[in-house]
Amino acid sequence: MTTTRGALLNQKGGVAKTTTTLHLGGALAAAGRRTLLVDLDPQANLTKFMGLQPHDHVNGPTLPQAMLNHPNDRDYALSLVRKHSENLYAIPASFDMFTLPRDLHASRSNEDRLTWVLEHLDELFDHVLVDCRPGLDIDTDNVLHWAQSVLVPVELDTSSIDALKLLIAQVRTLADETRRTPPTYRGIIINRIPKGGLTLLDRQVRQAFHDLPIPVVGEVRMRDSLVRAKEKGQTIQQYDPSGDAAAMYHSMAVKAGFLEATP
Ligand SMILES: Nc1ncnc2c1ncn2[C@@H]1O[C@H](COP(=O)(O)OP(=O)(O)O)[C@@H](O)[C@H]1O
Ligand SMILES: [Mg+2]
Repeated sequence: MTTTRGALLNQKGGVAKTTTTLHLGGALAAAGRRTLLVDLDPQANLTKFMGLQPHDHVNGPTLPQAMLNHPNDRDYALSLVRKHSENLYAIPASFDMFTLPRDLHASRSNEDRLTWVLEHLDELFDHVLVDCRPGLDIDTDNVLHWAQSVLVPVELDTSSIDALKLLIAQVRTLADETRRTPPTYRGIIINRIPKGGLTLLDRQVRQAFHDLPIPVVGEVRMRDSLVRAKEKGQTIQQYDPSGDAAAMYHSMAVKAGFLEATP
């Protein structure tokens, strides 16, 4: 099986990019797939949600150091990987991700650096997912160079529709500028659907997402279990394997084409 390279992308913050990365990764690992999650946000939320320590940017190794100084070094790439649990691995964030865009702007050949590092890991993993920070800078352009597919977590509000349209336009502009084919959008994931019923506006926004030419592959309701899982450094599949939240992420993995549907 070839490795799938997926990016969880939205320049808007707080739309559950990190939550989706963790539990979608958890669904893949629970299905027996070797899965690597890469935290590319200096806030290190994914690293913390997984109960891991951020990498030490003074002593290294860190992903930015690999991208800037050791891009073709397989052993350096391997030294970044930490094991979380069976089938689930991570490359933790580090503080130098904060200056990564500036450092990349200062170096030559700067949009394929992430690919030069992560491609060494393809042979070890069935799926690699990158959790991006909010914003679209040269580090995100590196993600778009590496990824074959993009998943866009959104929230049920009108500003999320505008943000998604802007994202699609920006990604296309970046691809045109570098003469690349734009990545495939595997799907939209609507997050934090209120526990009570949807208001009329909620239903209109939900319909607007369904009307876009990108499939909606997940609709995740508000669940306290998701908050408690991250506080314990666990995936929802570990924290509450028989709950409906674990089932939502499994179904997302199937709809996004990462897993076969089980009969
Ligand atoms: N379905 C959900 N139910 C409850 N809390 C959620 C859910 N999805 C996300 N959250 C919470 O919302 C906050 C923002 O989510 P996060 O994944 O960090 O967003 P982003 O990475 O896009 O900034 C986090 O505190 C997270 O625990
Ligand atoms: Mg995040």
